[in-house]
Amino acid sequence: MTRKIRTAILPVAGLGTRLLPLTKAVPKELLPIYDTPLLQFAIQEAQDAGVERLVFVSHPSKKIIERQVKPDGVLMSKLRRRGKDDLVDVMLQSEVHADVEAHFVYQERQLGLGHAVLCARELTLDGPFAVILPDDLIVGTGCLAEMVAAYDPVRAGLMVAAMEVSKEDIRKYGAFKPKGRDGKRLPSSGLVEKPAPDKAPSLFGAVGRYILPHNIFYELARTKPGSGGEIQLTDAIAAMTPDVGLEGFIFDGRRFDCGHHDGLLEASNWRKLAVARDTPPPMDGFVAAE
Ligand code: UTP
Repeated sequence: MTRKIRTAILPVAGLGTRLLPLTKAVPKELLPIYDTPLLQFAIQEAQDAGVERLVFVSHPSKKIIERQVKPDGVLMSKLRRRGKDDLVDVMLQSEVHADVEAHFVYQERQLGLGHAVLCARELTLDGPFAVILPDDLIVGTGCLAEMVAAYDPVRAGLMVAAMEVSKEDIRKYGAFKPKGRDGKRLPSSGLVEKPAPDKAPSLFGAVGRYILPHNIFYELARTKPGSGGEIQLTDAIAAMTPDVGLEGFIFDGRRFDCGHHDGLLEASNWRKLAVARDTPPPMDGFVAAE
């Protein structure tokens, strides 16, 4: 049976300037969430949603991410020779399941999120695909799995995770322009980027989970650089919305913005509690109290 969503693209090429100097040598995606590298949560979320292929869009200065994701045979045999089989079996098991392919492609110049997604074009399997931004950590439920379950592959529209935020915070997000609401779905006519609170069409902000129709690659290829001289994914989404439709999806989990120090710290505190409560496996059924 062909799966609904076969590929998840994980863009990890960004400079991470808001976290400097932490990110001068260490990629943001490998910063610790207490005991786990941030990226591992996105890998697990994609796999929980049933994808066949992960495509990491990285930058040549961040090759260490590939080393983290792929099995390290030398380290494994060294530890085994020292009798540390338990470490190998528990800590060094590949994060990527045996039946999931992991591919890396390199974005030579950081020309924006839209350009990063376009870099994954040749490696993306047929049909609609997912994009996960690993620095938007969502815990408690598998956000992408929920979205995949709700997505209609025949209609093949645009679906973006939506989160209700406070009036003062909406200026940090793309705000949905809802046409109505149907349970967790928010059929919308577009997104307004970083609106002033009084101009915001809603308090539903877009966060880093997308399900996109395959032909968005054509749109991205002809999208001109927009804000900040970057090729913006939101510009391609805006261009396609009138034809294919846009839906926000209001997910159940809790989101941490790990592109900021506070988000990293809060996520680490959540994780510490989750480990202390021994909630197996790490992502399941636990949402820290506010
Ligand atoms: P951000 O907007 O958070 O940018 O990118 P950034 O570079 O990671 O961080 P700051 O703003 O400088 O602190 C959102 C996502 O898009 C990826 C990033 O890696 C992140 O996952 N991205 C962004 C790329 O892969 N390539 C780009 O050219 C830009």
